[in-house]
Amino acid sequence: MKQPQWPVSTERELELLRQVLESDRWGGYHEFVKQFEREFAAFVHCAHGVSAMNGTVTLEMALAAAGVGPGDEVIVPAISFISTATAVSRVGATPVFVDIEPLSFNMDPERAAAAVTRRTKAIIPVHFGGAMADMDRLLPLAEQHGLALIEDAAHAHGSEWNGRRAGSLGLAGSFSFQNSKVMTAGEGGMLTTNDAGFAERAWSLMDQGRKPGGGWFHHYALASNYRITGLQAAVLLAQLERLPEQISRRTRNANLLRNELAGVPGLTLQTVPERQNANSWYLLLGRIRTRDEFHRGLTAQGVPCTPFYPHPLYGNPLYQQGGCRVEPCPVAEACIADAFWLPHRVLMGDEGTTGEVAAAMRLACARGSL
Ligand SMILES: Cc1ncc(COP(=O)(O)O)c(C=O)c1O
Repeated sequence: MKQPQWPVSTERELELLRQVLESDRWGGYHEFVKQFEREFAAFVHCAHGVSAMNGTVTLEMALAAAGVGPGDEVIVPAISFISTATAVSRVGATPVFVDIEPLSFNMDPERAAAAVTRRTKAIIPVHFGGAMADMDRLLPLAEQHGLALIEDAAHAHGSEWNGRRAGSLGLAGSFSFQNSKVMTAGEGGMLTTNDAGFAERAWSLMDQGRKPGGGWFHHYALASNYRITGLQAAVLLAQLERLPEQISRRTRNANLLRNELAGVPGLTLQTVPERQNANSWYLLLGRIRTRDEFHRGLTAQGVPCTPFYPHPLYGNPLYQQGGCRVEPCPVAEACIADAFWLPHRVLMGDEGTTGEVAAAMRLACARGSL
């Protein structure tokens, strides 16, 4: 079965890339970088955007700009990509792994509340697959304990919680534009925030410790060079223009698929909270007891499927050596055995191809239960 390709580009990317190539500034000071920061921040309903090389360094910048460092603890979900945890370790703080909810795949607010200590300084909910963590419970928790809430929105470009875009609810939102993400320049990242002081500190950490408007050879903080290039910004400007239409298409197809698969024995798809009124649909997630047979059956039919992560984050050799705190995570452990995801490109086709994906999933479920 032929599936839509990802990433996609059009003449628009080429037109904007040509403008950069014909200029004498291909690097991070091309005007497209500032323009993309402005336009993406506005898309996310934020006053400030700080671009950077990827969605890993944006998390590190966010923690450092929030003043998190050695001796501090940061609460993270046990299920995510490694950067959510390593960003904490790389600023010298301790990641505290807490369990996820069984059907949303997102940080369980109750488990997060139980993990708070006097050392807790920040909390990083991940909006996994585009479905948002329960911000109605996590925001008050952060406020009650004076924690910096950093949204890891690497999956959630355009997701919305009660009308508020992912990346605008906490102190900061961290986005990735890596190859598989719903908008991409191959690599790239962005921090979004409504806090002007935080934005200035993050910008300085991205650009060699300079100050906005300050001299080129004047460095005020120990930092590095995390700038994106004008070429990346050109591609991302074009990708952002296309994002709303792509989200609509994925939403229509996700709804079609979910209707087609409702009631299939043994299959549970990710729940999207009622308060969430838009979803990027970065991943189509689910759980099925016969996961390995399901995965084999689906891939044999040409539908891409990943059998989840091989372990919760704390199961990585890095964290088996210590340097973290692990709360009980029975749900995360269970998901390792029975969860899966399909990439968003399976939701980018027309109604006909979506029907074929649903049929393939139904067949893979049936084979697994024989
Ligand atoms: C949840 C999450 N956070 C952070 C990142 C890191 O982003 P990047 O690959 O741009 O460094 C990823 C990347 O896949 C991710 O899935």
